[in-house]
Amino acid sequence: MTTQSLNIVILAAGKGTRMQSLMPKVLHKLAGKALLQHVIDAAKQLNPSKIIVVYGYGGNAVPEAFAHENIVWVEQKEQLGTGHAVQQAAPHLDQDATTLILLGDVPLLSRTSCETLLNKTKALGLLTVNKANPTGYGRIVRNAQTSIEAIVEHKDATEQQRQITEVNTGIIAANNQHLKAWLAQLSNNNAQGEYYLTDIVALAVKDGHQVAAEVTNDESSVEGVNSKADLSGLERVYQMRYATALMNAGATLQDPFRIDVRGDLKIGKDVEIDVGCVFEGEVTLADKVKVGPYCVIKNSTIGSGTEIAAYTHIEQAHVNAGCKLGPYARLRPGAQIADHAHIGNFVEIKNSTIGDGSKVNHLSYVGDAVVGKNVNIGAGTITCNYDGANKFKTIIEDNAFIGSDTQLVAPVTIGEGATIAAGSTITRDAPAGQLTFCRAKEQKSIANWKRPVKKSK
Ligand code: UD1
Ligand code: MG
Repeated sequence: MTTQSLNIVILAAGKGTRMQSLMPKVLHKLAGKALLQHVIDAAKQLNPSKIIVVYGYGGNAVPEAFAHENIVWVEQKEQLGTGHAVQQAAPHLDQDATTLILLGDVPLLSRTSCETLLNKTKALGLLTVNKANPTGYGRIVRNAQTSIEAIVEHKDATEQQRQITEVNTGIIAANNQHLKAWLAQLSNNNAQGEYYLTDIVALAVKDGHQVAAEVTNDESSVEGVNSKADLSGLERVYQMRYATALMNAGATLQDPFRIDVRGDLKIGKDVEIDVGCVFEGEVTLADKVKVGPYCVIKNSTIGSGTEIAAYTHIEQAHVNAGCKLGPYARLRPGAQIADHAHIGNFVEIKNSTIGDGSKVNHLSYVGDAVVGKNVNIGAGTITCNYDGANKFKTIIEDNAFIGSDTQLVAPVTIGEGATIAAGSTITRDAPAGQLTFCRAKEQKSIANWKRPVKKSK
């Protein structure tokens, strides 16, 4: 069956009442990514010729959230059951293909389980799991020869059938010609008045087919999200798996239970990550990078040997090798930090280049600036880059020294090796090699001045 082309149908029409949310269930996020995106991404790995998503609750909100994907969207206006949902997709199913049915709220599905199921399936195949507590699930009914005879939904099952612990995960593979014929025969004559997809099993048996089954022992991979508690449970499973993969790749994690990766974290050798860090989007940490506690790093690359101290936030920035950042530093989009630079506490860098070996160590704002090599920017320096309407550039050339509490009113250039005296407000270019200052003319002292004292009651 693997030689046949593959169609994938993802059921995503349900409301998800128990999420207690205004948003359709499949848009809720796990590891920073919508549940349905997880399923679509897994589906794409199986190289289907077509992915069809059945949507319903929430209307166009679901297709709109996945406008970037090549999906055939099928609306199920009323949710009359899983069989009814697949019936809506039937006109789009290719004649000579196999269909794999996935559920939009089962985000951790396993690619290998799906592949094994597809390999085993001739007319119909089921992915099943044994559950200690099978309540609520469709039971897999087998005959004395252990061949599958039917799926009986919990609400329709007899007391004896309810003792069965092997249940339907909802992930089903079927040959399209047969599937279309079975779908046409479904009725809603059951305890829930729904068109059950699971009734196709008995129809296949009646037609003389052997129903294949792949029994998985990875329960999380077939777990559906019905509530916020379920969501948080699977989030922890996902994060623990990611942390384990990082450790297997050589990372030292201070505590694998306290790291969150919401995207893709690439690491070199001997990377160390302390507790409470969050990585979002595409992040790369080169060899020997150390990340202190409670850092947030998003869509950024960090060069080898760079040390990031606690509570540093980095977004869309590029940091080279051997830098020291933080604690409490903030690199905003467009920050480019060259080798061996230091960005210290309460320093914000936005859309600026900081040259090799330069230091901005305390309480500064550097925005829209080009800072050369070996520049020292003193505490409390501000590039005044914004006049309320437009933004302007500050250029600080190599080896310049900017005294503390300086305002550089852009556009302005500080020449190579220039020194700016502390407390200056610089509005014109400062020449290379010279001392430039701009302060109040006089320093006054009042000899008999007295500090105010508290009034007595
Ligand atoms: C279904 C299976 C059950 C299985 C269980 C696994 C049927 C009849 N039962 O039961 O055997 O053990 O899943 O979790 O198939 N959906 C639609 N349109 C609908 C109804 C459902 O798109 O009209 C979607 C839901 O959004 C959900 C999925 O199909 O993603 C499963 O539906 P749900 O109502 O949860 O089915 P269960 O009763 O749990
Ligand atoms: Mg369900």
